[in-house]
Amino acid sequence: MRELQGKIAFVAGGSSGINLGIAHGLARAGAKIALVSRSADKIAAAAESLQQDGHDAFGMSADVRDFAAIERTLHETADRWESIDIVVSGAAGNFVASAARLSANGFKTVIDIDLLGTFNVFRASYPYLRKPGAVLIAISAGLAERPSMNQIHACAAKAGVNMVTKCLALEWGPEGVRVNAISPGPIDDTEGMRRLTPTPETEEALKRRIPLRDYGSKDDIAQLAVFLATDKARYITGAIIPCDGGSALAGSLASDDPLAAQV
Ligand code: HXC
Ligand code: NAP
Repeated sequence: MRELQGKIAFVAGGSSGINLGIAHGLARAGAKIALVSRSADKIAAAAESLQQDGHDAFGMSADVRDFAAIERTLHETADRWESIDIVVSGAAGNFVASAARLSANGFKTVIDIDLLGTFNVFRASYPYLRKPGAVLIAISAGLAERPSMNQIHACAAKAGVNMVTKCLALEWGPEGVRVNAISPGPIDDTEGMRRLTPTPETEEALKRRIPLRDYGSKDDIAQLAVFLATDKARYITGAIIPCDGGSALAGSLASDDPLAAQV
């Protein structure tokens, strides 16, 4: 029997990139998958990619900033499949912008998607979680702990995501709910890295700062998510787990580093 056979997983931000990779990993391990993101077209295509691989999956359109809309998608998932075993909160928005050029609404937009969105997804899932046994996984980033040039919005948002993870692990642990975050490093072929290192030169410069000298793959992250969702991780909660080739060991960029070009 596969290790997540019969489990129900809900993946917010699951229409592309790392989160869709996680959805495929959970599905290969036997889980049924509910996907949510804003774009109805993207989410339908993502659900189809899972179905074409023979998995049980469906997609719903909702914005993680809208608590009532997210509540409806969790209700729909539980209606279809009963209790939810695994919740992944990975919806995020990011762009490169220096603080001096970032509007208050630009800052708020990223806080709302990443941080408020993670609270909304986890909080709205609470009534539908299998207790004991449910597993929540937030998607953070190394910049939660490392100040980064032109990323004040994402640094602040992901720092908050880490605290949401730890506070919920504390409050919901006694009910048998584990809450952890994965902190990916630069991952190949993702929207995040297309935005942060848009040219071959910036990509190469960043790779030279990574101890393992390469980007990770979506499957590297998916494997960690599957592990966290299984009983092999039964004693892990409140942890922020890097999967980053050692990126967290490198310091912040100096302001005159070419990688930190002002925008
Ligand atoms: C400065 C910007 C901006 C930019 C938008 N804004 N793009 N400011 N530089 N490049 C400002 C706008 O001017 C506006 O402020 C405010 O942000 C809201 O913009 P909207 O376009 O109305 O927002 P919305 O439609 O909600 O779209 C959200 C978004 C968009 C984040 C701006 O890019 C998006 O939908 N992104 C989702 C996909 C994504 O980003 N994926 C990468 C995740 S990677 P004003 O003041 O003008 O009203 C990631 C990596 C983490 O998270 C770390 C990796 C190492
Ligand atoms: P991505 O493909 O753009 O994934 C973001 C997802 O979130 C998309 O499915 C998007 O779909 C959805 N989304 C965005 N705003 C939303 C909203 N308001 N409500 C609901 N869904 C929303 O980017 P990615 O690079 O794979 O990043 C995935 C996650 O990994 C993010 O949490 C990111 O911060 C994290 N991360 C990425 C890297 C990297 O190397 N790429 C590194 C560290 C951390 P719609 O447009 O359809 O809404």
